Amino acid sequence: MVTAVRASGFVEGGAVTRGHFVVFEGPDGGGKSTQARRLAERRGAVSTREPGGTALGLALRELLLDADVDIAETTEALLMAADRAQHVAEIVEPALAAGSDVVSDRHTGSSLAYQGHGRELGVEPVAALSAFATVGLRPDLVILLDVDPGVRAVRSGADPDRLEAESRAFHERVRAGYLALAAGDPSWVVVDGAGSIDEVAARVDAIVAERLGW
Ligand code: TYD
Repeated sequence: MVTAVRASGFVEGGAVTRGHFVVFEGPDGGGKSTQARRLAERRGAVSTREPGGTALGLALRELLLDADVDIAETTEALLMAADRAQHVAEIVEPALAAGSDVVSDRHTGSSLAYQGHGRELGVEPVAALSAFATVGLRPDLVILLDVDPGVRAVRSGADPDRLEAESRAFHERVRAGYLALAAGDPSWVVVDGAGSIDEVAARVDAIVAERLGW
């Protein structure tokens, strides 16, 4: 998942220009992972994801998504935050500091939408957990790929994981939560996830060109 850190970002005099941190968010099955990987490749950025961007995170991801494991809602929020803490410390922050751009498939916004809104734990306590995990690091741009629940059902296949198997009401709270988060934060942009991979990619490219000059 993680590509090598580019030795880019050096400017005259040896100072390193910090990379940009772009995050893709959205409901399950929205084509977000494909778009995140594609943008990272096009940009030569570090491509990573949550949960599971590190060795520790992969172990946490297996537990978190296993439909046969019982996980209390608060524990789920803490494990997502633990994955994020390790991810930021081991992958994201070192890459940004070395001048590489980073594109992550999910980050704090997922916890706010899934645990804050979906599980109804509340956005504030979940945001506080994430702030502790990230030591305050915030993405430069969050691209919310919004998809109609009908499209989502077709794209997410059989054999759902522990979160995909949640009720329709849960997923509706997640989607509405995402839209509320985007409306309240200027670093978020909502992109229509309907259409072919190329059509959605063209929308993403227009946004990153406008916001970051990529
Ligand atoms: P992901 O592999 O991105 O799912 P998909 O490819 O189906 O979109 O993410 C795994 C699941 O973890 C997804 O259902 C969202 C959930 N999740 C949370 O509930 N909270 C979080 O903080 C994160 C990062 C993910």
